[in-house]
Amino acid sequence: MQKGAQTRRSVHIILCALKNNSDVFEEILNKHIIKYKYSSRDINLIQAVVLESIRYNNQVKTIIAKYSKKKINEDSYILLLSAITQLLYLNFKEYAVVNSSVEIAKNLKTSSGFINAILKKIIQNKKKLQEIRMDKNNLPKWFLGELSKLKKDKQELVIKSINEKPQLHIVFKSNLFLKKFISEIKYDFTTTSKNSLIINKFNKIENIARYNKGEWWIQDYSAMLPIYLSKNFNNKEIIDFCAAPGGKTFQSLANNNKVSVVEKDKKRAIILRRNLKRLNFNVPIEIKDAINLNENKKYEVILIDAPCTAIGTIRKNPEILFRKTDANLYKYTETQMNLLNKAATLIKNNGEIIYMVCSFFEHETTRQIKKFLNLNKNFVVKKFEKNENEDLIDDCGFINTVPCTLKNNVKIDGFFAAKLKRND
Ligand SMILES: C[S@@+](CC[C@H](N)C(=O)[O-])C[C@H]1O[C@@H](n2cnc3c(N)ncnc32)[C@H](O)[C@@H]1O
Repeated sequence: MQKGAQTRRSVHIILCALKNNSDVFEEILNKHIIKYKYSSRDINLIQAVVLESIRYNNQVKTIIAKYSKKKINEDSYILLLSAITQLLYLNFKEYAVVNSSVEIAKNLKTSSGFINAILKKIIQNKKKLQEIRMDKNNLPKWFLGELSKLKKDKQELVIKSINEKPQLHIVFKSNLFLKKFISEIKYDFTTTSKNSLIINKFNKIENIARYNKGEWWIQDYSAMLPIYLSKNFNNKEIIDFCAAPGGKTFQSLANNNKVSVVEKDKKRAIILRRNLKRLNFNVPIEIKDAINLNENKKYEVILIDAPCTAIGTIRKNPEILFRKTDANLYKYTETQMNLLNKAATLIKNNGEIIYMVCSFFEHETTRQIKKFLNLNKNFVVKKFEKNENEDLIDDCGFINTVPCTLKNNVKIDGFFAAKLKRND
């Protein structure tokens, strides 16, 4: 098989796996990279086609239905999905897309004539088809159900974000490091706070300026906010229950706190260790389920960045809407509540628990906090203080946002954080 067709065949296999299993994109991609010895150019192509295909699955569904009235098999659908994405949304060369798609169709023993005919029609009507908007009816029912619990304007923001690519948001240990970075780079950037910025152009994270100096990490703006907006967040005894890959731990360490770092998953702890080392932070990681922590020692601040559906990161992880299986919406609610209750036993009086999830679903956010406060009358909500982006903090004082774009064109993830103060 020709190289172009081989990379597209990998795209096909990865898309099928994401549709049918709970496979993680990066892991399947890595297997293909090793097996076919892909170059960084091939890898970029595979990444771009897989992710854009998933992001535009909604529109492509509408387009295919226009040209084929009969029900088509999964191989043909996925082949058309990636080919149409390449033609309409990635503007790849038409002959390369059609030829390799036909070759793969023959290889898969699915109707190559049918694929060829549809792609020819798409090319003829390219401009018109590019204008097709997202159709709510093509979204999974479970997602529409959750979406309907949000206000109309928030629903629209979420739907808009489904087609969008994420940006790269960088957080620095201090303003001094941000200044050094800016003085060195030649590409466009937008500062988002005194310690953070986004850059619009990069190929590999490792090639970004001053990577090996260990002065910055990647962390979304909204995920940075809970600690960034916390006043007097220094010289405290903190425990981070759910630490990997490390964003909140790094912020805590950069603010001169004494941090106990806990992570349950061994593989993720290895990534965290690597990240800590690059950033020149020398702290041990306790690989443990936080629920089993010894209760002798008490802390002034407890960070719970709990496992969740991660629906807030839909731009970075769009496959949640693509998979055939249900999103397992309630998978983490019990763990989230157990972590909150455990924190209640480890917090000092006047200490603060910061509960966070990258989700905007009610059952992982506000409902969990209400439930916790009902059962733990010795805790009160401490409101986050509004900053320049006031809309991100709700009337209860929670950081509570859906994926959206700020006034300065910075795209942020959906995120939730509540600060609970023990007040006996
Ligand atoms: C949302 S991620 C944390 C992100 C991290 N705080 C950051 O800022 O980069 C949740 C993490 O919690 C870990 N985790 C889940 N349940 C846990 C538990 N019971 N005890 C400790 N860690 C847990 C997961 O393995 C995962 O690495």
